[in-house]
Amino acid sequence: MKNLLKDSKAYYENNDYYEIFSQAEDYESKVAEYLNSISKNKVVLDAGCGTGKFLKVLENNAKEYIGIDLSNDQLSKAKIKSTNKRSKFICSNLSKIPLDDGSIDLIISSWVLGTITDIEERNNVVCELKRILKSNGIIILVENSENSEFEIIRGRDKDTRTKEYNDWILENDFILDCKFNTYFKFKSLEEAKKCFEVIYGSKIASKIASDKIEHKIDIYKFNQIKSKNPKETS
Ligand SMILES: C[S@@+](CC[C@H](N)C(=O)[O-])C[C@H]1O[C@@H](n2cnc3c(N)ncnc32)[C@H](O)[C@@H]1O
Repeated sequence: MKNLLKDSKAYYENNDYYEIFSQAEDYESKVAEYLNSISKNKVVLDAGCGTGKFLKVLENNAKEYIGIDLSNDQLSKAKIKSTNKRSKFICSNLSKIPLDDGSIDLIISSWVLGTITDIEERNNVVCELKRILKSNGIIILVENSENSEFEIIRGRDKDTRTKEYNDWILENDFILDCKFNTYFKFKSLEEAKKCFEVIYGSKIASKIASDKIEHKIDIYKFNQIKSKNPKETS
């Protein structure tokens, strides 16, 4: 039996540390500002919302905010942050989303699809995201870029995981929309080490030498209209 949570268990089993990690990520809120600029008055799905990293900016801007996650623990943290009574939180697998066809203007999915290592399941999730998207809707994936200090610390400069995953995104009708040079900023070196130890293991944590870690972020965009007319995108 496929166990999708197993793929991303570090993100939900130790969610107190994931929350600290998440808050340290994109410390200057560059991605949040980008999401702010595209979410005004939209029906937004935060697909794999976790503890609600971008909940505040999306909820403040959107006509309606829906957060979906497989993990109830993560969702309960997101719910605490919510200040809009109209926001909805659904515990569901993204491979079978309980929403109508063509009902969502904007889908944001930050650091989720790469945690689904079963390609068949990941493809199912993409099909579901496309199914619930309005005909002029947009899907945004927030992902790790290759070649940053964050990737080197995780040993991803020595293998092809990030590259293979980012290539897979481009093969699935997404285009690279923009790149952000960001960083993680923890309260202390000890806090940085502890978070990385809990999520990635002690070997990776031992490589951390500062409370500030450089992180490059890629934003990928899927636009249904462009995808139906691939020539127009070239
Ligand atoms: C790395 S965390 C990212 C969370 C959040 N988007 C953020 O930016 O902090 C990945 C999240 O995706 C969720 N997730 C993974 N696979 C999922 C699936 N098939 N269906 C729903 N949620 C899933 C996990 O439970 C976890 O909360």
